[in-house]
Amino acid sequence: MKYGIFSFIILLFVIAACKDERPLTIKDLDEVMIDLRAYQENLGDEIKAGRMKDAKWLAYGMDSVFGEIKRKFKEHRKLEQPFSYYYNLKMQKPIGLIKDAIRKGDTVLGMKGYRLLIKNCNSCHDDNNINKTVRF
Ligand code: HEC
Repeated sequence: MKYGIFSFIILLFVIAACKDERPLTIKDLDEVMIDLRAYQENLGDEIKAGRMKDAKWLAYGMDSVFGEIKRKFKEHRKLEQPFSYYYNLKMQKPIGLIKDAIRKGDTVLGMKGYRLLIKNCNSCHDDNNINKTVRF
């Protein structure tokens, strides 16, 4: 038992150090893309079913993930331009259409926005040689 309390204190330091590290470890882009896909798939299901009210938190949630990515990835080894460049070019319009459709409760406009969203997710992957197809 001589070293018991000593090891315990060391352990506490280790735990504290790990906790401190956590906010600094940045989720890489591929992990955030998996989150995005979860939002996109569920958003698609709600819009297709005409549940525009339920689509709301998914659309806004997805956009806040994009906000996070724009801040984090001013540069990335797989991107030629900062993420915000691609967001403005490809995501702003479909997400704007979808938010507009949600405000109006317009499923047709929602589908139009969603179709454009999928097309533009894929177009960004193509531009950056990412072999990943987002499905409608
Ligand atoms: C900047 C342009 C860009 C846009 C816009 C974009 N992606 Fe991606 N995506 C990437 C890049 C780059 C990767 C590869 C990331 C890596 O490997 O580090 C990727 C990878 C992925 C992956 C694979 C992740 C894995 O590791 O399996 C999925 C899934 C994905 N994207 C979904 C989406 C969805 C859904 C959208 C649209 C809502 C979207 N992406 C929009 C650039 C983009």
